[in-house]
Amino acid sequence: MDKDSFRAAMRQVAGAVTVVTTRSLDGEPRGVTATAICSLTADPPSVIACINRETWVGQIAPESGKFCVNVLARVQQPVAETFAGRSALAGAERFQVGEWQDAETGAPVLDGSIASFDCDLEQAVDFATHVILIGRVRKTVSGNPDAEPLVYVGGAFTTTHAAA
Ligand SMILES: Cc1cc2nc3c(=O)[nH]c(=O)nc-3n(C[C@H](O)[C@H](O)[C@H](O)COP(=O)(O)O)c2cc1C
Repeated sequence: MDKDSFRAAMRQVAGAVTVVTTRSLDGEPRGVTATAICSLTADPPSVIACINRETWVGQIAPESGKFCVNVLARVQQPVAETFAGRSALAGAERFQVGEWQDAETGAPVLDGSIASFDCDLEQAVDFATHVILIGRVRKTVSGNPDAEPLVYVGGAFTTTHAAA
């Protein structure tokens, strides 16, 4: 199986767009745009996030033991682009885009998200280029149920709403 065929097939898989955030042990916030996130189980409430170890979050979250999965609304596409490295902003500067608060764990939580899942890290599993963060959800923040979700498919941002 070659990487290009795998990537071509994966491009067709629609994903909810999130920004996974963390805060380093010395207090620096970091975030990364990620679609490779998933509910793990409701008992205990837990999620997984698959993050490249070359990213700030992939390096910091296994040490800090905390992360927050922020599921973006369609209007938050600029936040997704910023945390995907598509602007000149780097590191903590990226939090200038969007309205951010501190979640209970200290990881940044995005105002107006569809939902946010503030997690204590249970396990960090290395696989090839990525680390799988397994998080036990400490608290959820539910946003506006009527907000249109931000979705990524075919290499483009879109939404699930029919009127899009
Ligand atoms: C729609 C979209 C989804 C992405 N999903 C992931 C993902 O699930 N995991 C990941 O590690 N990177 C993902 N990326 C790539 C990171 O957002 C990108 O590498 C980012 O620039 C990393 O930031 P940093 O290296 O400055 O920390 C995604 C990018 C986009 C645009």
